[in-house]
Amino acid sequence: MKKLPKIARRRVGGSGEDLVRVRPLLEGRAHPTVIEPKVDGLDLVSWASNNRERIASLLTRNHALLFRGFEADGSNRQSLIDRFERFVETASTGERLFYKDRSTPRNSYGDRIYNATVYPPDQTIRLHNEGTYWVTWARKIFFACVTNAETGGETPIGDVHAVYERIDPEVRKEFEAKGVLYVRNYNDGFGLTWQNVYQTEDPNEVEAYCNANDIQFEWKDGGRLRTRQLRPAVRVHPDGGEKLWFNHAAFFHVSSLDPTTRDAFLSELGEDGLPYNTYYGDGSSIDPDTIAHIHSAYEAEKVVFRWQTGDVALYDNMRIAHARQPFTGERLTLVAMTEPYRGPETVGDGPDIR
Ligand SMILES: [Fe+2]
Repeated sequence: MKKLPKIARRRVGGSGEDLVRVRPLLEGRAHPTVIEPKVDGLDLVSWASNNRERIASLLTRNHALLFRGFEADGSNRQSLIDRFERFVETASTGERLFYKDRSTPRNSYGDRIYNATVYPPDQTIRLHNEGTYWVTWARKIFFACVTNAETGGETPIGDVHAVYERIDPEVRKEFEAKGVLYVRNYNDGFGLTWQNVYQTEDPNEVEAYCNANDIQFEWKDGGRLRTRQLRPAVRVHPDGGEKLWFNHAAFFHVSSLDPTTRDAFLSELGEDGLPYNTYYGDGSSIDPDTIAHIHSAYEAEKVVFRWQTGDVALYDNMRIAHARQPFTGERLTLVAMTEPYRGPETVGDGPDIR
């Protein structure tokens, strides 16, 4: 019997040869860097498990990585969800974070794997880093496009060191000196309930969480709750030492609401009862023009690119902010956060706060 010809089998996912191409996704924009296979059938998770150090150094250098075009087991929904969880595990060295103290509702798709926020599809979510108002936040944030929207639904990104550089030095100085005060009200009939935000029905658990996380709380009648969080506005990158505009001062400010919602909230609830609002750390008001200036700095750094089904992204959550564009059709984007980091309490000449 004639011998079958030997088929040269490529060890897909091996570390011997360079199986991927690395390049900026968009000409003229520093972010994101796209990593694409040079061969067919390359499995993302096995490639990643053989290239952990390379991924880490690419992330340190480029801050925003997009893995595109890898084999996706037929690209069905469940296989993409499972693959994402395995990729998060492979590309992380620290534990995953739970979404407590949330600002929007979420569902779970695995062990600390969530869908990107359930928020009206016709609205934009502005650029923000995840958890700037927590005392412990994630160093890494992962996204996966499982079901791509019919139109829109992009997850734009922006470099918050560049945002910091764009902000007027006088504005930065005031924020760096005073920090940001986040005020939230729950169970007044608008926004999320404290039960959803803190994922418990028990007020004692809310108090324990607040005490452990530097959140001042105040119970009002009828089981309503007000919280205050005082945090620095600017953080220093733990690796590079560069300054980062790492806060939600503009994101949660009352002037950032659309005018109809803002007017309804103010007439129904008054400023003291708003679901959320921000102030300088000393409790003084932030001028809407200052907020508009901060939004324009973010907008100038905003990079928008279309998702492809099967895409997985890994961002340095301290350096890279993310957003969401309006969309039509069904959309499932997953998110996970890893590598909890508790920052130092002060920045520069800033107040002694978290
Ligand atoms: Fe987010």
